Amino acid sequence: MAGDWLPAGESADIEPRRGVRRCVEGREVALFRTGEGELLVVDNACPHRGGALFEGLVTGRTVVCPLHGWGIDLGSGRAVPPEEGGVATHAVREHEGQVEVRLAKSVKNPTEER
Ligand code: FES
Repeated sequence: MAGDWLPAGESADIEPRRGVRRCVEGREVALFRTGEGELLVVDNACPHRGGALFEGLVTGRTVVCPLHGWGIDLGSGRAVPPEEGGVATHAVREHEGQVEVRLAKSVKNPTEER
């Protein structure tokens, strides 16, 4: 149900600068941990052609799509210019070694909701 915190696995499974794929309430998301330990979650589909973002390299708060190299800002979900578009971002928290995600409403292009 929208707005609920939903289980998304164990914290220890998400290593720094890596992504993992999870299915939360039927929605495929990509969870990333930055080198500083921050956890960020976006839909697991690149706005270009749907590449699996969880397989991308993380630099700072940006993931680079493994297919054609678009950068996606994991904080805003927006593609790094000059590319356009973006993915939905989701709230995430960690508690006692478990990750929980609160799904956003379905937004393919975050620039459209502003
Ligand atoms: S599918 Fe991600 S850059 Fe093309």
